[in-house]
Amino acid sequence: MSLANSTVVILGGSSGIGFATAKAAMAEGARVVITGRSADRLQSAKRMLGEVLKAVALDVVDEAGTRALFAELGHVDHVFITAGAVLFDPKLATELDSIRPALDTRFWGAFNAAKFAATKMGAGGSITFMSGAAAIRPIRGASVATASCAAVEAFARALAIDLAPIRVNAVQPGLIDTPFLDTLGERRNAFMTEYSKRLPVSRPGRPEEVADAVLFLMKNGFVTGTTLTIDGGGVLT
Ligand SMILES: NC(=O)c1ccc[n+]([C@@H]2O[C@H](COP(=O)([O-])OP(=O)(O)OC[C@H]3O[C@@H](n4cnc5c(N)ncnc54)[C@H](OP(=O)(O)O)[C@@H]3O)[C@@H](O)[C@H]2O)c1
Repeated sequence: MSLANSTVVILGGSSGIGFATAKAAMAEGARVVITGRSADRLQSAKRMLGEVLKAVALDVVDEAGTRALFAELGHVDHVFITAGAVLFDPKLATELDSIRPALDTRFWGAFNAAKFAATKMGAGGSITFMSGAAAIRPIRGASVATASCAAVEAFARALAIDLAPIRVNAVQPGLIDTPFLDTLGERRNAFMTEYSKRLPVSRPGRPEEVADAVLFLMKNGFVTGTTLTIDGGGVLT
């Protein structure tokens, strides 16, 4: 299956893995829609990508905004939802509202996207959710974010049945060198070096390597209800 002339929507496509996926899909001739919350980040992504079909400032948890986005689009072939939040609450001591985005962004974002995208898709179409290796190897202190990864994997399996013939899968990256890690501040480089030492491949992943896996899930018409791990062997060690 080719992506040429297909419409690919990437929710969270202005940076990192989503951006790399947009670039790879465009290189194969797809028309690409990208979203993200920051208009500035979208503008700079647009400048780097060239002719995207649309670049829309939208939070994935915004139900009305997601409905409006898909209402404006014609037929949609493939959707990738990358947005997720990792928040820390090691002792389960914060107020619910503070920790809620760790589940809401990844799970309800995936829900909104699947709900409105599915009305525009048909056989051959695919939806891909973003999980993370945390689903298997928890991030210490981030239990809710960890649970959100497992939730979208189970959601993908359930929707692979409920939304068939649309295919629904998830990707499960390990440590990937993207701006997502900038929140670590000056600990970033030391963390990457330490983490890499325990990986069989001895290095962090590149966003393009996850994009490659996402394109595989979009194009292979016999894959549905699965989670694809791209982690340099991290879950083994
Ligand atoms: N990098 C890693 O090591 C790693 C490993 C496993 C899993 N992941 C998962 O991969 C996903 C993307 O990470 P990345 O590494 O590509 O990070 P990134 O470079 O920061 O990109 C994240 C993208 O998602 C958008 N986004 C974030 N929250 C959003 C929201 N609520 N609504 C709409 N768009 C939103 C961002 O734009 P705005 O900020 O402008 O909204 C940006 O376009 C996350 O779910 C993360 O948990 C990353």
